[in-house]
Order: sequence, then structure tokens, then C-alpha cells
Amino acid sequence: MVFLGKRILLGVTGGIAAYKAAELVRRLMGGGARVKVVMTAAAREFVGPLTFAALTGEKVATAMFGPESDPLEHISLGQEVDAIVVAPATANFIGKVAGGIGDDLLTTIMLAATVPVLVCPAMNAEMWANPVVQGNLARLKGRGLLVMEPAAGPLACGAVGLGRLPEPDLIVEAAAGLLSVRDLAGRKLLVTAGPTHEDFDPVRFLTNRSSGKQGYALARVAWRRGADVTLVSGPTSLPVPYGVKCVMVRSARDMQAAVKAHFPEVDALLMAAAVSDYRPTQAEVRKIKRAREEMTFHLTQNPDILKQMAPLKSQQIVVGFAAETHDLEAEARRKMREKHLDLIVANDVNRPDSGFQVDTNEVTLIPRVGEAMPLPLLSKEEVAAKILDQVVALLETRDEALTKNA
Ligand code: PMT
Repeated sequence: MVFLGKRILLGVTGGIAAYKAAELVRRLMGGGARVKVVMTAAAREFVGPLTFAALTGEKVATAMFGPESDPLEHISLGQEVDAIVVAPATANFIGKVAGGIGDDLLTTIMLAATVPVLVCPAMNAEMWANPVVQGNLARLKGRGLLVMEPAAGPLACGAVGLGRLPEPDLIVEAAAGLLSVRDLAGRKLLVTAGPTHEDFDPVRFLTNRSSGKQGYALARVAWRRGADVTLVSGPTSLPVPYGVKCVMVRSARDMQAAVKAHFPEVDALLMAAAVSDYRPTQAEVRKIKRAREEMTFHLTQNPDILKQMAPLKSQQIVVGFAAETHDLEAEARRKMREKHLDLIVANDVNRPDSGFQVDTNEVTLIPRVGEAMPLPLLSKEEVAAKILDQVVALLETRDEALTKNA
């Protein structure tokens, strides 16, 4: 429940994507938020306030004046909530906010707002490309507002291009970034996730049960907390988390190349990927035929990516995982020593509700220096948050040591 106890003001302006704001309300409330909707007059041409009132259980604010309006809402609403999300945001609304115009309830709220703001533009592709609109967006960004890029695809006007309102899930992700602690701001993190595929032939491969969920949760939560995140992902069916740069790879050797390329520029590497320790010695060019009763394949050891990063390490914090079925802590400690890690996440993969594929995980965090920290069964996002707390502490200790030695 990423928005538990939070109050979000959702501004809806007059574009065809206004109908999608109803789904957004449901997603925000699903994350625990209380949502107050403010609609412009043009938005009401597309969707009725009753839709939002029924979904939120709250009166929808539509005007500054009139018997229904609260005389102070134009000031108080943008200060009492925890965050403002405007979706869809039209070119007209963006222009008014950029120019400091408050000629209706929503734009006046924006002038007086003191809370973080997310603006989700949606418009025709030519409007989006218009230098005036881009200039206005740059002014909003310059004032610290978070502006989402619209999605590409078919638009209501019949054209195809940039201008679609991003999917509600992505908007929810971006909104979560507004409300998180920003203790990883200014840090660069490299996260790996998922399995690797090691080919036998063009249609068959050696792999494991990793879904990528734990690594993607790490990337997602790290972005929310302000980090610049690069995710190196093996094949998964998961959507790339909002704000995260993703490098898709297939084999252990592809992952090795991607990690090696990004490692020098990051503050921390977190390897949640389940890298295949072996690959078929020879990958056949043609599909292997069903001919013999028995077949023997030779396997060759893959590079140990984490171990290879040790000699390249300058100031980076390196975190590994150990997926174990037996002797969890002893095996994890052995891997931490051999791979020269700062922290290892010992992952019990015996239980049906922990480890591969499921949404929950039970891990013990073992730092190189200090006591092991066993955690209860948590969601993978909660596990990610606990790991990142340790990374934040390790980075602070590193910075202090660097300042002392400077
Ligand atoms: O993806 P999910 O379905 O959410 O499941 C999550 C997970 C169980 C995959 C994850 O939590 C986890 O435990 N990942 C590590 C799995 C693993 O391969 O562990 P290992 O003990 O084999 O490897 C130890 C460490 O060395 C890992 O950080 C691994 O990324 C790294 N490694 C392993 C082999 C190799 N050739 N190179 C490596 O760098």
C-alpha cells in the first residue's frame, strides 16, 4: 500500500483522455490513497463529476464561485493534500500554469500549491511537438514539477505519435516517487534481475525459475527514493519500472558485458539476477532433431559476474544475493567472502511463498561487517526497501570515510 494514509488531489483537464482518469482514481485508491478530484470546465464536457464523486466518495470540486463552492478551496486544497497529480494535462492547462495564470479553480490551486506535483500531459502529437508547449513544460520542470512523457501510439484525432496519456499503472508509479523519502537522490544504482537463457539450439535453452520480480522491485523502489537506476534484465514478462533505464540481455555473457560497461559509473551494484552458472558448450545452429534414445550435452562454466567486478571496484558498494535450499547463512557468508561483497541477501528458496516467482520473499541481510538481520516474510517491494536502507547506510559510511581521507 504505497499511498497508505496519503491524500492526493487529482486534477482533470479537458482532453479525451479524461475518461482514463476514472481508472487512475481506482489505482490510486487501491494503493491506499484518499483522492480528491478537481475538474476544469472543459473536463466536464468529457466526463461527469458524478463518476469521480461515486468512485472517491468525496464531492468533486469544479468551480471557485457559486453556491456549491468553498470560498477557500482555491488556496487550501493545494496545501492540505500530500501531492497533486494532473492527468490528463492539456496544452492549455500547461501554458496557463507556466505563465502563472489562475483563471479557474485548478489553475489557482496550482499557483498556491506547496506540495509535490506530477503533470501528465496528453494531447495531439503536433501540439506536443510545438516549441511553445515544450518551452512551457521546461518551465514547469525548472520549478521542480515532475512531468511525465506522454506515450506513443494512435491518438484520438486519428494520427499516430507521441501524445497519449501514459497508462494508469505508470502514473501511479511516478506519483509514488513524489511521496517517497529521497534518500537515494544523486546516487547511481545498477540492478540486475531475472534469469539468463543459455541456448542449446535456436529453439531450446537452459534457464531457471527467476521471474525478475525481486530485481524489478529493487529498481522500482530505488527510483522512487531518488536514485538514477539502470536495470540489466534477463528475459522476463515484466513491464520496465517507470523512470528506470533498462538494458535487456539474454545470456550470462550478455549480462556480464552490460554490467561491466555500467559498473565504473555507479555508486552501487545490486545483483538479484539468477545467472546461469553453466551454458551448453556448443549452441547448435540448426534445431536438434529427436533421433536418439538418450542424449549427452556438455556444459561450460559461465563467468562469475559479481566476482569479476571485485578487481574493478573503486568506491562502489556491491550487494549480492544467495538463493539457497540448504545451509542458508553459511553458504551466503561463503559467497560474500569469495565475491568480495559488502552485503549479501540470503534468500530461502525452499518455501512456497518465498524466492522464485511469488510476490513475497523471506531473506536475511548479512553485512560484511556486523550482525545478520533476519527479516520476516514480506512483499518483494518491502524486501527491496530493507535492502536499500542498508545500501543508504553503506553509502553514507563510504562518503564519511572518503571525506576523512581527503
Ligand atoms: O526473480 P524472482 O522470481 O523474483 O526470484 C528472486 C530470486 C530468488 C532470483 C532472487 O531473490 C535471488 O536470490 N537471486 C540470486 C539467485 C542466484 O543465482 O543466486 P546464486 O547463489 O546462484 O548466486 C550468488 C550471486 O552471484 C547472485 O547475486 C548472482 O546474481 C551472482 N552470480 C551468480 C552466478 C554467476 N555466474 N554470476 C553472478 O554474478
